[in-house]
Amino acid sequence: MKSNRWDDHYTEKARAEKWLARSVYKLQEIDRKFKLIHKRDRVLDLGCFPGSWSQYAITKVGKPGDVVGIDLHIPKAFSPPNFRCIKGDIETLEVEWLVAEIQPRNVVLSDLAPPTTGIRDTDVSRSMFLAEKAAQIARALLKNKGHFVCKIFEGEELKHFKSKISPSFKQIRLFRPKATRKRSREVYLVGTGFIPN
Ligand SMILES: C[S@@+](CC[C@H](N)C(=O)[O-])C[C@H]1O[C@@H](n2cnc3c(N)ncnc32)[C@H](O)[C@@H]1O
Repeated sequence: MKSNRWDDHYTEKARAEKWLARSVYKLQEIDRKFKLIHKRDRVLDLGCFPGSWSQYAITKVGKPGDVVGIDLHIPKAFSPPNFRCIKGDIETLEVEWLVAEIQPRNVVLSDLAPPTTGIRDTDVSRSMFLAEKAAQIARALLKNKGHFVCKIFEGEELKHFKSKISPSFKQIRLFRPKATRKRSREVYLVGTGFIPN
C-alpha cells in the first residue's frame, strides 16, 4: 500500500529532527494540549521501544527528573543517565514488583500496541487487555494529581474502559493526534489530576 503524503511528512520530519520514531509527534501534541510533562517529573513509559516517547519525556523532565521505560525490546540508540529501560512483558509483569522497584510517578504513558492481526475483534480485545494493565500500573504508581496517557483501539469496550477509570481522575478526555495514521483506529485516553483511593 502506498503511504499517504501526511505519513511521509511525519516520518521525514522525525528523521530530520533526530527523533527515534514519528510517533513522537503524537505525544508532543498531547503534551502541548494537556500540559502533562514538566521539569523534574518522574515519568513511566509503557511500550517504550524504539524510544521516541522516552526521548521526548527526557527532554521535558531534564536532569533532575527521570524516565523509566518498559518494553519487550530495549531501545539501543538511546541511553541517557536518567533513563532506565526494563525489558519485560506488561501482560505478566507483577505490579507489586514494579512498585517496589521504582519511585512513584508524575506521569504514566502507555503507547503499548499488540502486533495487529487484521482481525478487528482480536486486535481490539488485545489492545484493551494492554490498556487495562496500563491503567492498573498507573493507579499503583501515580502520585496525587498525576497524569495518564493510554493508547487504545476504538471499539465497544472503550466506553466501558473510560467510565471504569474516570473516578480515578479529575478529567478524562479522548484525543486523536494529527500524526495518527489515517487508517489507524487508535485513540488516546488522557486522564489528568489523578485521585488516589
Ligand atoms: C507503537 S510501539 C511504541 C512506540 C514508542 N512510543 C515510541 O515512540 O518509540 C508499541 C510498543 O509496545 C510494545 N509492546 C506490545 N506488547 C507488549 C507487552 N506485552 N509488553 C511490553 N511491551 C509490549 C511493543 O514491543 C512496541 O515496542
